[in-house]
Amino acid sequence: MIYDFTYQNPTKIHFGKTALEHLPEELNNFGSNILLVYGKNSIKATGLYDKIMGMLMATGKKVTELAGINSNPRYSQVMEGCRLVRENNIDLILAVGGGSVVDCSKGIAASAYYDGDAWKHYWEEQGLIENKVVPVASVLTMTGTASEMNTGSVITNEDKKLKLGRVFPFPDLCPKFSILNPEFTYTVPKIQMVSGIADIFSHLMEQYFGGDDDCTSDYLLEGVMLSLINSSRKAIVDPHDYEARSNIMWCATMGLNKILALSKMQDWEVHMIEHQLGAYTDCPHGIGLAIISPAYYRYIYKCGLPKFVRFAKNIWKVDANGKTDEQIALEGIASLESFFRELGIPAMLREVGATEEMLPLIAKSTIPGGGYKKMEADDILVVLKNCF
Ligand code: NZQ
Ligand code: ZN
Repeated sequence: MIYDFTYQNPTKIHFGKTALEHLPEELNNFGSNILLVYGKNSIKATGLYDKIMGMLMATGKKVTELAGINSNPRYSQVMEGCRLVRENNIDLILAVGGGSVVDCSKGIAASAYYDGDAWKHYWEEQGLIENKVVPVASVLTMTGTASEMNTGSVITNEDKKLKLGRVFPFPDLCPKFSILNPEFTYTVPKIQMVSGIADIFSHLMEQYFGGDDDCTSDYLLEGVMLSLINSSRKAIVDPHDYEARSNIMWCATMGLNKILALSKMQDWEVHMIEHQLGAYTDCPHGIGLAIISPAYYRYIYKCGLPKFVRFAKNIWKVDANGKTDEQIALEGIASLESFFRELGIPAMLREVGATEEMLPLIAKSTIPGGGYKKMEADDILVVLKNCF
């Protein structure tokens, strides 16, 4: 079935080697109080912090800083940001970093002026926003999540051992502008670079494996998958290949600015499982996705066989001659797995800090759902054991 849709995405993108030059003109559209949010130390090590501070000073801004945002950002960090926003009457939250920094900034933007328990209202109950929202903008230094052009905010509540994603149905939470210079991603460590690639690939598959109509979105998703495979293979050999890094960066943004999902059914269960894996192990998001995906798809492929056959033929060029549909589909999943190995991603959960005791806890706390097959905790446990 082709679903009706309304699509609006207000984020202005500045992309390329000169993208940062647009920062001063963008800053002129906002008041003078800026909350600068960033991670542990990468932006200071690369010199980006000094450049951005220089621009903020030159445009007469008063800067408050929230530093040290964790990969897999914590709810306590969102709360700290909320306090800074209120105390300093912040006009713009400027996130400089990867998806964690941008997600944390959006969480702050939504929660700073909410009077009640924001975790419960926004993340657990997925409640509507009725309070004032603070504008957010981003300068991206690591690519994968598409947080730079969506309303998602994935936050970990350490006390509750929950990592919950919130996609706010509220365009005002999209970054007002995002600055994407692929050169800023050159210094990302290899494990984070391949984690980002796996995250993009997973976003594409979560949107692809659902529905079997002749839908334009599926053709677009296949096109982005092919571009991503091609450029990832080049970037692994030469991380300074500008064309490859730039393609990967744009694949990421396109991968989850929601335009590729329009009108179609989707899945997202691999993400639900990985988020809880992250809550227990703190492993990089894309690495968890890459380990879980082949096991999950082997578990569900018979429920969506025609699509898995299409995936094998169109993406991995599996030779269908003399093979059954099931054999073709399984070869496609094996090719996906080999691609993740080629990137140097570990194969098993035990390699990223998961223990056997954690598996039932992860399965039980994962939000059940799925696309072709409805997954319950028992199904999820089997998938986890199959990739442990
Ligand atoms: O903290 P610093 O020192 O900045 O180091 C970071 C961090 O350790 C480092 N890094 C970033 N840019 C760098 C760099 N190191 C050197 N040079 C640079 N230029 O990379 C590490 C990882 O950064 P992080 O922001 O955590 O990575 P990512 O962009 O993958 O974000 C992951 C988070 O986003 C969520 C994930 O669950 C996870 O919490 N997601 C958000 C989504 C959304 N908003 O729609 C959807 C995704 O599915 C995902 O769930
Ligand atoms: Zn993801």
